[in-house]
Amino acid sequence: MAAIRNVEEIRDGALAALAQASDRAALQEWRVRVLGRKGELTTVLRSLGSLPEAERRVVGAAANAARDVLDAAYTERAARVEQEELRQATERERVDVTLPGRPLPAGSLHVITRTLADVLDAFRSLGFWVAEGPEVEWDEYNFTRLRIPEDHPARDMFDTIWVDYTRPDGRRPMLLRTHTSPMQVRVMERRQPPIRVVVPGRCYRFEATDATHEWMFLQVEGLAVDEGVSLADLKGTLEEFARRIFGRERRVMLRHAYFPFVEPGVELAVDCFACHGTGCRVCGATGWIELLGAGMVHPEVLADVGYDARRYTGFAFGMGIERVALIRHGIDDIRMFYSNDVRFLEQFPGV
Ligand code: DAH
Repeated sequence: MAAIRNVEEIRDGALAALAQASDRAALQEWRVRVLGRKGELTTVLRSLGSLPEAERRVVGAAANAARDVLDAAYTERAARVEQEELRQATERERVDVTLPGRPLPAGSLHVITRTLADVLDAFRSLGFWVAEGPEVEWDEYNFTRLRIPEDHPARDMFDTIWVDYTRPDGRRPMLLRTHTSPMQVRVMERRQPPIRVVVPGRCYRFEATDATHEWMFLQVEGLAVDEGVSLADLKGTLEEFARRIFGRERRVMLRHAYFPFVEPGVELAVDCFACHGTGCRVCGATGWIELLGAGMVHPEVLADVGYDARRYTGFAFGMGIERVALIRHGIDDIRMFYSNDVRFLEQFPGV
């Protein structure tokens, strides 16, 4: 019975090959080769017809039995291969949910932009509105109408960058504003009291830079004009502002100062962030750091814009935003703000 041995050989050979098949592709290939329509076993079954009756039954039964064995073996092997592939995939694609995420680099506002926004917010909540004006300004607004005529010694306070434009009479009337105070005049020209406005803006001075001076800086000007506005209102407003920006613990001091467009003029100082008032290098041993200039708007400035100076009074103030940021964060060099050193800027995150 050579045919039966043939069936057994085919079966044993196929079982051995099946044990070697270790992935889906190999299994598929095995299945076609062994059990497929042109497979080895099928060929045997097909050729049964040419065998004598008795032999045909025996070989047929053996071939069918072999087929059942191989079928069952295939099913089992396939299940095992599938399981193994799944196990490997799980291993390969395992996610460690305890790993910290990779943070995306996020930008944030520049510390000066942030400080300006906070200052404006503080005044907005006190009832001031916000206006802006030109950075290229006329001498008339920057100086003359603020009671600083030509040859006035106060012009020395402002080292001016002049615009290269000379009138036929030899005068140079145009400049980069040295402060935001000219906007006091511009606002009053256009509106009647009551006025409560703050004006942020860039200012320029022809100055060598050092730890406390930049040739370009940001100021915020304030102006409040109405009947009965007094120095006490100025004091209350500035103290409330200082508390909001620097915290309740900070001490503030008003002392006399001279500015041609206010009378009386004052300056507001806060106790030094470095030594807390005992006196050190940062505050020049005084314990105080000057924050802003202010005062009661000079009656001549009011009269000049057509206001009735007997009826209306007003206060004004002007501060440097870089200085606010210095004091707030305890920084001792103003040049850091605009040198674009990311290591410095990154220390002030925030929105
Ligand atoms: N404009 C002045 C400056 O830049 C600051 C100043 C002083 C503004 C007194 C004011 C003020 O409004 O009343 O030095």
